Amino acid sequence: MEQNPYLTGAYAPVTEEIGAELTDIEGEVPTDVAGVYVRNGPNPRFRAEGRKHWFDGDGMLHAVTVEGGTLSYRNRWIRTAGFRREDEAGSALWRGLMEPTTGNPPPMPGELVTPYKDTGNTDVIAHGGHLLTSWYVSGAGHRVDARTLETTGPERAGSEKPLRLTAHSKVDPETGELFYFDYGPKPALTYGVLGRDGSPRHRTTVALPGPRLPHDMALTERFAIVMDLPVFHRPEALAKKKWIVGYHQELPARFGVLPRYGEGSEVRWFEAETCYVYHVVNAWEEDDAIVMVGCRCSDPIPEVDPADGADARMLANLRLSARLHRWRFDLTTGETTEEALDDLNTEFPTMDLRRLGRRSRYSYHQRIPKARTLLFDGVVKYDSDTGARRVLEYGPGRYGSEVAFAPREGASGEDEGYLFSFVDDRAADRSELWVIRADDLEVVAKARVPQRVPLGFHAAWMPASELVG
Ligand SMILES: [Fe+2]
Repeated sequence: MEQNPYLTGAYAPVTEEIGAELTDIEGEVPTDVAGVYVRNGPNPRFRAEGRKHWFDGDGMLHAVTVEGGTLSYRNRWIRTAGFRREDEAGSALWRGLMEPTTGNPPPMPGELVTPYKDTGNTDVIAHGGHLLTSWYVSGAGHRVDARTLETTGPERAGSEKPLRLTAHSKVDPETGELFYFDYGPKPALTYGVLGRDGSPRHRTTVALPGPRLPHDMALTERFAIVMDLPVFHRPEALAKKKWIVGYHQELPARFGVLPRYGEGSEVRWFEAETCYVYHVVNAWEEDDAIVMVGCRCSDPIPEVDPADGADARMLANLRLSARLHRWRFDLTTGETTEEALDDLNTEFPTMDLRRLGRRSRYSYHQRIPKARTLLFDGVVKYDSDTGARRVLEYGPGRYGSEVAFAPREGASGEDEGYLFSFVDDRAADRSELWVIRADDLEVVAKARVPQRVPLGFHAAWMPASELVG
């Protein structure tokens, strides 16, 4: 039987947790940047029975600390409740996302109820001096020490139970507050705010027309933006507890604007052309309107290719196709205007997070080639004012990771800094860390990592100045 393509080659999991200084370096590591670049992704510890989905793997963080022109690497699994329970058992206890949930272990006291194993494998952000990991199906957020990658425990927000949140919380760069949301099988989503110290500040419920699968949210200086998008479970499948998602193209995309500390009943919905949005670049207020820039998918559920066999549906759903897009929500008239900014397939956008919620211009995306599996073959820098782009190709047989933007010390310009990316070299079956100048996308250093870094999901930058301890 053919191996699952998301468990081999550039995706194959690693088995060791290591730490090492990077000494095999081509180019010069800049001395005017200090902090930690960290990337999350799935890395199954044990093989579960049944069909495997790329998203099943236990979350593993890979990090490089940059300090005084030196680089050091470390990787650690996130110690979620599921990881710890399987670690104790010495084998898989949960089945994957493509299998029925019956038979999966119930939660232990103090754990959240989740239908599948909460792997924490999706997102990682910097908040309050810690890393915070999260899972796209809504689970526990885990605090992780950015230097050691030790999981210090779930974010509890003053409660006994872990706080439930999904991927893509936002942190206000001035107040340090964290804005989060979660969703589940009910026709609603929860939106909330934590202080910089993790204390609960606000929480409300936003009613939806049915259960939905939002992946991201946006933030401006005064507002939060949540999403009601027409990609959601087929109701007949949900009734049988099966996870089959459909694109309901007859429905519009709806973006809900509410004051940062507003109640769910205060949401104003703005309708837009039907689409799905995995990731927002940024949003801000401008002339009594909200401008939101993001990656718009017009074909979020591609056709299944029967030649792909048993993995056909997973392979189709992972053939991500998105274009840079700008929406404008007029707060006076309630009207939406929108325009495509480019025609290149790019996703996994990142930016200078010091400008989150404020007017910004530059973002850094991954270019997606036509391929059997999801791959990133270059970094694309966009200027959303003009739609202009600049491309850095990783090169033949090389595939990168979501980058994070690291400001140059003492600089405040929006692209005065560096981008970091783990780059897989298929021919050599090894990985490198690339340090890239954000202004002109020049690669200033490539460092060999002593362990392959499997392709994965989201990344973050933790400045040395914000590290706790
Ligand atoms: Fe995501």
